Order: sequence, then C-alpha cells, then structure tokens
Amino acid sequence: MKHCLHLKDWQADEIRAVIERAMEIKKNPAEHGDVLKNKTLIMLFQKGSTRTRLSFEAGMTQLGGHGIFIDQKTTQFSLTDFRDEIRAVMRFGDVLMFRALKAADVLTAASFNQIPVIDACSEKYHPCQALGDLLTMAEHSGGLDKIKKVVWLGIENNVSNTLKLACAKLGIDVWIAAPKAHQPSIDPELNKMADATGKVHTTLDLKEAMEGADYVHTDTWVDMEFFDNGKVKPSFQEEFDARVAMFKPYQLNAALLEKHNPNAKIMHCMPCHIGYEITSDAINHPNSVIFDQAENRMHIQKAIILHLLGK
Ligand code: CP
Repeated sequence: MKHCLHLKDWQADEIRAVIERAMEIKKNPAEHGDVLKNKTLIMLFQKGSTRTRLSFEAGMTQLGGHGIFIDQKTTQFSLTDFRDEIRAVMRFGDVLMFRALKAADVLTAASFNQIPVIDACSEKYHPCQALGDLLTMAEHSGGLDKIKKVVWLGIENNVSNTLKLACAKLGIDVWIAAPKAHQPSIDPELNKMADATGKVHTTLDLKEAMEGADYVHTDTWVDMEFFDNGKVKPSFQEEFDARVAMFKPYQLNAALLEKHNPNAKIMHCMPCHIGYEITSDAINHPNSVIFDQAENRMHIQKAIILHLLGK
C-alpha cells in the first residue's frame, strides 16, 4: 500500500507525476468534481493548523468526497492505547491524514496497511508542504526542470527535511544556510539519502547561499509548542531568546535580497513570525510567492490523495 510519510520511498518520477497532476487538476477543477464521490478522508490533528486543515477539507469537497476532522482533545485517544484507537479510526475512511506530535505514530498507523496514511506535519517531516512548494516553484519558474537552486535559511527542521530530499531527488541544488538543526527533526537516514545525491550543500555564508538562487525559503525558528495564545510559554523563554540571537543573521528580509540576489523569489510555509525569521517587507515583496504556496497546498493535497488511491 502506498503512503505519503517522508518521501524517502518516493522516486523522482513519482514526485514529478504528482506535481504535474496537481497542475492539471488546478487548471481543470470541474473535470475532477466527482472523482472521490463517497470517499472519506479522516483528518486527525494532534496540533493546530490553518492551511493543512483547510486545504485537505476543501480539496476533498472539490473532488466530490468528504473530510472528517477529529482532534486529540475531543476523541478518546488519551484514554486508550494508540495502536488500538488508530486501527478503529481507519475503519471509517479511505485515507488517513495525520498531523502528529510524533512521526513514529504516523509510521505506526501506516504499518497496519489498512488505508493510505499521510504525514500532515510531524516533528520530522512535512511531505505535503514540500510537494506543494515544488508545485509553486514549478509554476513560477515555468516547469520543474527550470528550478536550479533553492536556499533554506534559518533552522533546519521538518519542513526543510522533506523539501531538501524532494528537491535533491529532482536534481535541484539545495543550499542550507542554517546554524543549527532542530534536534527532534533530525533523521540521519533522510540526511544520508539527500547527501548521496550530491545536490545538498551547506554554508553559513549568505552571499554564497544566495548567489544565483531561484528561491529562498524559511520557516519559524521555534516549534508551535513554544507558544500559548500567541505568546511564548514562560518555560521556553530562555531557549526562545537563545534561538532569536542565533538565527537573526539569517532572517529573510528585503535588504537580504537587495544585497545578495534581487531576483530570488521569497517563500515561507506559514504561519509567519514577523520580525523573527521573516519581515513584512519580505512577505509583501514583489518577489514573494508565499500566498501562492498557501493556496497550492490544496491543489497538491488533491493530487496526493488521488495518487495514494491509485486514481
Ligand atoms: N504550513 C502549514 O502546515 O500550515 P498550518 O500549520 O497552518 O497547517
């Protein structure tokens, strides 16, 4: 059974095909209006979300199917064994989309091979974001083959992991300009696989990173678990301050583009933390493709689900 977990088991052709399918669906939405009639996507969230929830739910509606949202707080997961509960949950749908606190739980769900499972952002991976971002880059570059160099700024994390691997598999050079990796996100096997392509480069020199880059991408320096109602939790304040000091030189802002590469397009998977990893002048810059990225989450989710269901 096919799953979308981390892209380690996805071949370049498969990545390419899903992105091209998303482009086709985006151009002709009416032709796909009932392709998932009577199909159900179960959407299990252990963490908050704006884009992932909306894109999957709207995508299922547009394909003629239905998405059911369930979360940790209002289900019985906390009362029982995860393996039992998830096996019961998967009896009600055709695909499981799981935003999990731990990637290991997504892998456990997939290991039962009851229905296809999608990692919808765990601490290690965010494959749907990577595929959606490649769709956005392909649109703005005039095709996947036109994308030559992608830069990741700030901290290495779940988003950079899957983006790096997907780009490297497609033969795109990825430059990582990040003084640190978020420890829980590290997957040595994924890193080894990406490094083996010869397409992953690391530098702390912004000039070297930005030179000739088609796209520059960043993400939050801290996990969503650091925040409570938009404020840093007191228990994380010290770590938060240390990260801000470390990563500030790698902030994505208009001055960085002006200095090193005025042609690079600006990307962020959102939500943006203004004044930290990105500035308002970057979000609203003429080179920004951030809102296209957000919308493209929906188009790529459709293609991923159809691919997993063999449709
Ligand atoms: N980029 C992303 O996954 O957004 P949400 O956390 O809002 O789903």
